[in-house]
Amino acid sequence: MSFLRIEGGRNLSGRVSIAGAKNATLPILASGLLSGGLLRLENVPRLEDTAAMAGALRAVGASIEEVLPNVLEMRMEQPPRPLQEGEESLARNIRTGVLFLGPMLSRFGWAQACLPGGCRIGARPLDLHIWGLSKLGATIHIGEKHIEARGRLQGCDLRLPFPSVGASENLLMAAASARGTTRLRGVAREPEVVDLCRCLRAMGARLEGEGSAEIVVEGSDGEPLEGASHRLLPDRIETGSYALAVAATGGSLLLCDTPPRCDLAVFFEHLQRCGVAVEEEQEEGQQRGLRITREGGFSAVSLTTAPHPGFPTDLQAQFTAAMCFADATSDPVVVTESVFENRFMHLQELQRMGAAVTLEGCRAHLSPQGGLTGADVTASDLRASFSLVIAGLAARGTTTISALHHLDRGYERLEAKISSCGAQIERMPSAAPSRRRAKPSIAALSARPSEKKPGEHPWLPAC
Ligand code: EPZ
Repeated sequence: MSFLRIEGGRNLSGRVSIAGAKNATLPILASGLLSGGLLRLENVPRLEDTAAMAGALRAVGASIEEVLPNVLEMRMEQPPRPLQEGEESLARNIRTGVLFLGPMLSRFGWAQACLPGGCRIGARPLDLHIWGLSKLGATIHIGEKHIEARGRLQGCDLRLPFPSVGASENLLMAAASARGTTRLRGVAREPEVVDLCRCLRAMGARLEGEGSAEIVVEGSDGEPLEGASHRLLPDRIETGSYALAVAATGGSLLLCDTPPRCDLAVFFEHLQRCGVAVEEEQEEGQQRGLRITREGGFSAVSLTTAPHPGFPTDLQAQFTAAMCFADATSDPVVVTESVFENRFMHLQELQRMGAAVTLEGCRAHLSPQGGLTGADVTASDLRASFSLVIAGLAARGTTTISALHHLDRGYERLEAKISSCGAQIERMPSAAPSRRRAKPSIAALSARPSEKKPGEHPWLPAC
């Protein structure tokens, strides 16, 4: 198993080009099931998750080709075929295979999806997806490995009890070719949902309200949508991840081809309160850029994650890691995770590097000490992996990070991008040496998923 080795303690400088958004790419690939024509997607990030999604779509009969670097062309001209024995693994490691249900059912009256994989950051039930599709008229069967749905969809009014990103995307795509009007209230407002709506509109879908809490869709009554060309929006989570890397190490990075600053308004407001400068920089003829600079003091601030436009849960782990490098004179801070019930698995790895952090329920209590010491750590999920990269870049000495398959799901050309900023990072081909100290006393740290039945959630009534 390969691992990363990082020699920490160097300031970052230079420029990083931001790729297309993974969390827009996956639902928009699924939306191609609605189209009877050619869907051309540009600025597609080359990631494990993109490849997995493309493989799963091919398994149901779609044709997908990378016609140019980061440009995919997709067609779905025939009704979908059932997954063959053994093909389930194609989507096993991603959660977004479940996003086939809405578009496939809406256009063909039948749909099948693998039970999801993805990061272990909580129970991640599908009750809101199933509830909404049932309200639209679907009959749903959940088997050992698959979910199967049948029925002609009839638009209706739906109110989501929580702005689930995936459920919002699934139901929007289901409504796009349903019969009649669907009014979706309490819908997610994430920029990736907005980008999906832009792509659906380019395919001829009739919808309005994206970015607000209510979207109204006029269905095409089973007619396929048209072909279209769409450029994926830049990845705001990659943007925030690199901004936190330079915040932790110190230095100045120009992030190029970034999303609109407003897509990360709350995140940047937290970063500026830490003493980090965030300035728009428009090079002539170049795409939009943001210069992130941290040269003086680095203060620690508390945060609470929330659905958009709140602080993104996908930047919580990276922010927590960066806080370990805040000035030791900073007051202790509290990081509250309100979206997922098990998204602190990076804490015990940060503790191996010397972090003074404890966990009580969904709150991590952290006392900044002005730095950490390199260690051998193991990634646990996609965003936790990048938090360990940040810690390794800023720590004293050498850090190795194993279980890199998590990282490769969501960050394109990571080593190349970070090396170009002056860091010493390399991917080693064999098992990481083990300097691992005895497991830290993590009784207070182990964030066990709360004991609850699928569908129940701290804030969600069972739907
Ligand atoms: C999307 O996941 C993203 N993934 C996640 O990014 C992101 O963290 C999340 O939205 C929140 O912003 C993609 O877009 C591919 P949710 P999703 O449905 O759709 C509960 C990354 O690192 N819930 O908004 O799965 C759920 O358990 C990934 O890039 C239900 O209870 O997130 C969670 O606690 C990680 N029932 C909360 O809602 C449901 O039916 C938010 O989940 C669905 C969700």
